[in-house]
Amino acid sequence: MQEILKELERRREAARMGGGQRRIDAQHKRGKLTARERLEILLDPDSFEEYDMFVEHRSTDFGMADQKVPGDGVVTGHGTINGRLVFVFSQDFTVFGGSLSEAHAEKICKIMDQAMKVGAPVIGLNDSGGARIQEGVASLGGYAEVFQRNVLASGVIPQLSLIMGPCAGGAVYSPAMTDFIFMVKDTSYMFVTGPDVVKTVTHETVTHEQLGGALTHTGKSGVADLAFENDVETLLQTRRFFDFLPASNRERPPVRETADPVDRIEPSLDTLVPPNPNKPYDIKELITKVVDDGDFFELQPTYAGNIVIGFARMAGSTVGIVANQPMVLAGCLDIDSARKGARFVRFCDCFDIPIITFVDVPGFLPGTGQEYGGIIKHGAKLLYAFAEATVPKVTCITRKAYGGAYDVMSSKHLRGDVNYAWPQAEIAVMGPKGAVEIIFREDIGDRKKIEARTEEYARLFANPFVASGRGYIDDVIRPRSTRRRICRALAMLREKKLANPWKKHDNIPL
Ligand code: HXC
Repeated sequence: MQEILKELERRREAARMGGGQRRIDAQHKRGKLTARERLEILLDPDSFEEYDMFVEHRSTDFGMADQKVPGDGVVTGHGTINGRLVFVFSQDFTVFGGSLSEAHAEKICKIMDQAMKVGAPVIGLNDSGGARIQEGVASLGGYAEVFQRNVLASGVIPQLSLIMGPCAGGAVYSPAMTDFIFMVKDTSYMFVTGPDVVKTVTHETVTHEQLGGALTHTGKSGVADLAFENDVETLLQTRRFFDFLPASNRERPPVRETADPVDRIEPSLDTLVPPNPNKPYDIKELITKVVDDGDFFELQPTYAGNIVIGFARMAGSTVGIVANQPMVLAGCLDIDSARKGARFVRFCDCFDIPIITFVDVPGFLPGTGQEYGGIIKHGAKLLYAFAEATVPKVTCITRKAYGGAYDVMSSKHLRGDVNYAWPQAEIAVMGPKGAVEIIFREDIGDRKKIEARTEEYARLFANPFVASGRGYIDDVIRPRSTRRRICRALAMLREKKLANPWKKHDNIPL
């Protein structure tokens, strides 16, 4: 028995050493932690239960029969984050560059299958040179097995990807199908084809960082949700983020007790909106003043800033926030913001997270760039997402709600459950100036007449009372009472039941 135990310990130690001290040192030198060190930070102490520590690849070509490392380049298993179950895989760059073999893929698939059975999220820590080149098509098959599971798990359990090193080629499509992607600045990158291929095909010269680094994907492409300074920050923020999420679509997110009173009055909100309707203000000030303890976990803050999305809590329960941002493009909707908002709304709807929408939108961004880029289809995504969502939906119009954008932003007509407006709200087909220039075109030369008509239009339409007179707005509320009113609305909606007609699946405009 003693001998067997010794042998077990020896084998475990070999697995823990991955690709050996030299490669571990190289990993550290790059400012990266190893696969196991990362899990130690991500998971609660002593909670990790590892699977398949002794799995090895089965390939024999290119001298691989003599090159076997127990675990085969990925550490898998389950653990807890603040006491809640989570499944994880963490690719080990010190073993064949974290490349994915058939066996490596099988390990990932095993924990994904377990996570689906028990209803718990999966977090993937990606640090890989891609397909194990020595294995050829077996590796490609392995990737596709993971992709298939990503798709089946979508909307059933939350899936998170942390990109903590290379992630290139077809390998990017697994993270792409997960719900959220967090990246580490300077040490991670994602691209379908790397700088060398780009140079050959398009003659562009770019670095790895420019082509697919964290700043590129959180600023330009919108592929990733957040960029962090280093491994430790990424892992700690992932723990914080995890607390907002439910374990699966069968459960609600955890409730966090708060000392922040649900009826807290915030007098400063009465003066948040400037008297001049063309002056911007920061919608994030409203968000942080309304949610529990000012704690707002914003996603994609540096991409499509004209819409703000993220998680917060109201009376201890997770809510998704969607808000137009008057500070960027006057809060207009455009292609990027519509896509950003739509995917977030759909995540919330999958996982039974109520959506609070703050509206200050002058309309859709005009221009050939937008039209040629397909704003019609992309704008429809946001409309579609709000319209199909059956979770509790509470909307508050703080200022402008013009044109089609009024309809889109979780309006009453798209089954908004409780729709509020602040007293200074302007809800109409378009702003007074534009409206008068169209319906009184013959008077355009007469400044006095136009001014009088504009004033008349503003008096008649640039207010919340026409919409509230029709019941499109349930109540016009004082800004200072916004938290209290939303908390009450959410409490009322707690047991909301609403189902869409049966269908195989919908056909959202992609
Ligand atoms: C096998 C690999 C590997 C791979 C790296 N290694 N990538 N082994 N298959 N794909 C090994 C190296 O041989 C090396 O082994 C160790 O990992 C570290 O690699 P280095 O090159 O020394 O590291 P670095 O300089 O940091 O460069 C990392 C890298 C580079 C940029 C990832 O290794 C690289 O370009 N690798 C190939 C990437 C690639 O073309 N992958 C296939 C993409 S296509 P030793 O023994 O020296 O430590 C793809 C398709 C997926 O992934 C399809 C899904 C549908």
